[in-house]
Amino acid sequence: MIIAVIGAQWGDEGKGKIVDLLTDKFDIVARYQGGHKAGHSVHVKNKSFILRLLPSGIIHEDKTCVLGNGMVIDPKAFFEEVEQMQGEGISITPERLKVSSRAHLIMPYHRVLDHTSEERLGNEKIGTTLRGIGPAYEDKAGRRGIRVADALVPEILKQKIERNLEEANRIIVLYGREPLRSDEIFDEISVLIERLKPYVCETSAFIAEAKRQGKKILLEGAQATLLDVDHGTYPFVTSSNPTAGGACVGLGIPPHHITGVLGIVRTYTTRVGEGPFPTEMIDAEEEIANLIRQRGNEYGSVTRRPRRCGWFDAVATRYAAQLNGFDSVALTKLDVLDALDEIKVCIGYQLDGKVVNTFPASAYDLRRVKPIYETLKGWKTDTSGITDFEKLPEDAKRYVNFLSDAIGVKIDLISTGAEREQTIILKNSVLESWLENHRKN
Ligand code: IMO
Ligand code: MG
Repeated sequence: MIIAVIGAQWGDEGKGKIVDLLTDKFDIVARYQGGHKAGHSVHVKNKSFILRLLPSGIIHEDKTCVLGNGMVIDPKAFFEEVEQMQGEGISITPERLKVSSRAHLIMPYHRVLDHTSEERLGNEKIGTTLRGIGPAYEDKAGRRGIRVADALVPEILKQKIERNLEEANRIIVLYGREPLRSDEIFDEISVLIERLKPYVCETSAFIAEAKRQGKKILLEGAQATLLDVDHGTYPFVTSSNPTAGGACVGLGIPPHHITGVLGIVRTYTTRVGEGPFPTEMIDAEEEIANLIRQRGNEYGSVTRRPRRCGWFDAVATRYAAQLNGFDSVALTKLDVLDALDEIKVCIGYQLDGKVVNTFPASAYDLRRVKPIYETLKGWKTDTSGITDFEKLPEDAKRYVNFLSDAIGVKIDLISTGAEREQTIILKNSVLESWLENHRKN
């Protein structure tokens, strides 16, 4: 069984908690795209872990974790996180952590280029995480990237660093920065690669073999659908494919081997960084945004950067359901809305006086669309920790059902708090059948 878990909006939907909750039922947790993220927090046994690069399965010592070929890996960030986890008493060994030999490396010059690229864009900047992720993917597509397998041979690593840095330094100098030195980069990276060696693996073969043995594999998406480089709000996106197709490419899994796709949807929307956001709460609604931000702790896990907040956008989420083929949806952070008198849901967009039901391709159009809202009554009751759908207030049930109808996929799981136990799993649902499947085997 292979299940992909994918964020439906612009990230921070609460994938971490859901993946952590499901991890129990799986043997392997694999990531397929992206690099070390801003970080998401997972609460386990009253402890809070912040994960950037490693799948959250790493917290559970009987699970194996995979970093797939579609990822970009900063070796320094990798060992920082490994050491941090080991400091928390978690055993991390090459037996339970596999890094694809085909993954690309984020090099120190990629970080600098992420800064210069944002500087160049000025007002049009993306608001990237400045970790070098975009520039590393640029090198990958430009066929000059350094893959883990290349880096294992010191001469090749040295040669590639020298060649790439020659060009990178021209841009770096153009922006008035000090050029980097290839010998220094080589010395720093080669030591880390030597340490990385035991973790390196032909991960697609590893996964194919695990599947053959009947192991259960969870694919953990990073970022989310609307940040997908092809399908998201381009150019305000990340440089990889978080959508379900990306999971096949980023791990080397045949599409028909994927059993199902679980979409993670939050009861409202947030966005970090720049870019269009049709349902953003601005001006008169800023107070509501502040309330949600506070109740939902909508600040970057590491940077504490406040996230932009907005109403639920059914046009965008329906689009995500269609792109990923969600078989099931987990709805997170219901309790955050407990305090609202009224809740708006965007059910369509208006563009130049016409109703559009599809998600516009152009960022220019997306900035201009006017959301068409349906207003629902709030429930003004504490729902935190409720584990039975029937115990939810009627208006909360109505809200959940409304969202489910609006996106066209059944909601099988509802999260009512940050803890694992604060969860409703609906009976006879697709999600339950995946979990049952576990019990039978
Ligand atoms: P998780 O996995 C939300 C956003 C950045 C920026 C854009 C491109 O926690 O949901 P990049 O550094 O990837 O080139 O930045 O993508 N972004 C995220 N937004 N959650 C994330 O991760 C994000 N990772 C990147 O803010 O707009
Ligand atoms: Mg995040």
